[in-house]
Amino acid sequence: MNILAIETSCDESGVALLTVSPVAHGGAPKAVVREDLVASQIKLHREFGGVVPNLAKREHIKNLPILFARLQRKLRAKKIPFKFDMIAVTVGPGLEPALWTGITFAQALAKEYKKPLVGANHLEGHLYSFLLPPRQQKTVNSKLQIAKSKIRTKAQATKIAFPAIGLIVSGGHTILIKMDSLVKWKHLGETRDDAAGEAFDKAARMLDLPYPGGPEIERLAKTGDPHTVEFPRPMLHEKNYEFSFSGLKTSVLYYLRDHPDALTGKKGKADIAASFQAAALDVLVAKTMRAAREYGAKSVILCGGVASNNALRGRLRKATHGEGRAFFVPERRYNLDNGAMIGLAGYMAHLRGKRYPFKANGNLGI
Ligand code: KG4
Ligand code: ZN
Repeated sequence: MNILAIETSCDESGVALLTVSPVAHGGAPKAVVREDLVASQIKLHREFGGVVPNLAKREHIKNLPILFARLQRKLRAKKIPFKFDMIAVTVGPGLEPALWTGITFAQALAKEYKKPLVGANHLEGHLYSFLLPPRQQKTVNSKLQIAKSKIRTKAQATKIAFPAIGLIVSGGHTILIKMDSLVKWKHLGETRDDAAGEAFDKAARMLDLPYPGGPEIERLAKTGDPHTVEFPRPMLHEKNYEFSFSGLKTSVLYYLRDHPDALTGKKGKADIAASFQAAALDVLVAKTMRAAREYGAKSVILCGGVASNNALRGRLRKATHGEGRAFFVPERRYNLDNGAMIGLAGYMAHLRGKRYPFKANGNLGI
């Protein structure tokens, strides 16, 4: 089945075309991404230190027709017919003015092309994004890598074993779920206040780093000493699967207030960034692994914008493999918001007969 997918939940407009085919015996579906285009608004929102919902809305309205036309052009150039059986669109969670732009655009397309429309949950998109095969790169040197990753992805798509623990970490969410299959899961816990990505963004702002702060902190942390400041590890030892990151963020604020010279030293910023990242990752890794042990998870899935953090990917991979569990994480680019993951989420919703209303739902859960 060919799916045209539209994503506009935050500051990335995404349009994608993918082919999804079911795998026998209840296995994971196999996805082929025909084209996946993302227009990021990061530069625009950077000036304001975060996403401005009405600006995001204006940009999506401007970007969607451009991306749609580009998608058709790119497919034509690759001699792939522009044909689809269904349209998937993100209905939530996210910024409602932004979500509405995608919904309205998708509804107009559904009418024009006389195709069924399915609502997709953005969080399910992140969750399923590990099933997306890595993108083809053009350089000759990477051919071997592509071949290897194709083999790995094929194995991924068919070999995910359950129960699995899923950690969704993004700018708006930090959620742990226990999965019995790709379509059946239980919510274990989430953050009580700030999401992990939000904490990265806010801490970065205190360090005078641009939005989005996650990649900036990660870059700086590489040269810093994580033991410089012992920031708190909120809720690390509490026997639940909830998180809290607002205290960690506040401790960065207090530290900077009490150490006015901290940012002037050569390595000052890098040390604080490294100490902050270590604290946030300690909690994320420890709680995920505790859930994995308690539920006897055979697999651990990491996804969402913060999952593009190499230190987190590396630490969680090492911890899960160290306990003989399988580890699944999407290719880095698919951790950030994109249309392809929405195509998969729409397909899975369609398979299990889940009909999300075509109404922006900012607080839609998983
Ligand atoms: O999934 P996403 O693109 O949007 C939401 O659905 O929220 O996630 C964006 C979040 C931002 O908070 C950003 O700072 C964070 O993901 N992020 C990172 C990294 N790259 C993006 N956080 C830590 N390290 C990174 N490398
Ligand atoms: Zn997202």
